Amino acid sequence: MKKKISVLIGSLRGASVARKIAHNVIPMFSDDFEVEIVEIADLPLYNFDYDDPSVPEVALPAEYTRFRETIKASDGVLFVTPENNRCIPACLKNAVDICSKPNNDVAWKNKPAAIISHSIGRMGGYSSHKNLKLALSYFAMPMVPQPEVFLSNSHDLVNEEGKITAESTLEFLQGYINQFSDLVKNTTK
Ligand SMILES: Cc1cc2nc3c(=O)[nH]c(=O)nc-3n(C[C@H](O)[C@H](O)[C@H](O)COP(=O)(O)O)c2cc1C
Repeated sequence: MKKKISVLIGSLRGASVARKIAHNVIPMFSDDFEVEIVEIADLPLYNFDYDDPSVPEVALPAEYTRFRETIKASDGVLFVTPENNRCIPACLKNAVDICSKPNNDVAWKNKPAAIISHSIGRMGGYSSHKNLKLALSYFAMPMVPQPEVFLSNSHDLVNEEGKITAESTLEFLQGYINQFSDLVKNTTK
């Protein structure tokens, strides 16, 4: 059976460079994988009342259930994200929080993860990347230890068709995806 990879994009705007990077990276997975972008724009802001049994009048949103089930059914998760104000974009942190509950059924738990961060400047979304790692650190998610992928000057990285053309970057990304693929294959669900 094919391994399922869910791709989460940390930007909601139509022309997102993160989304373009994701579209360049998805074909780098072999045919052994089924790779899909999972949209996070419609997820209501996290509110623990939804999960709190002592507040039964607040119903769990259907979007949460769908999202949690999609992540649980995945064999791995790839995050592609920019940086907002030196941190994780709110839409992505919201997604992290939603799948962090309920405590007895955490969707992220032991799920292999990969992170690609980008920024218009030279830092490559370093702080967003590290903060995302910190936010995920509670869930024992196996990750490729090295390299870490920070794509700098990302607006110049993709051409008008949304393609990455720099051979060295494509090779680097392919190497990372290969390592992540091995990690997913070697992790028992
Ligand atoms: C609210 C906001 C905050 C931002 N903060 C940062 C930042 O802290 N560091 C950075 O490198 N770029 C920052 N940027 C610039 C984004 O990296 C840039 O707009 C990028 O293209 C957004 O990613 P996207 O193209 O995937 O939507 C910020 C942009 C916005 C809109």
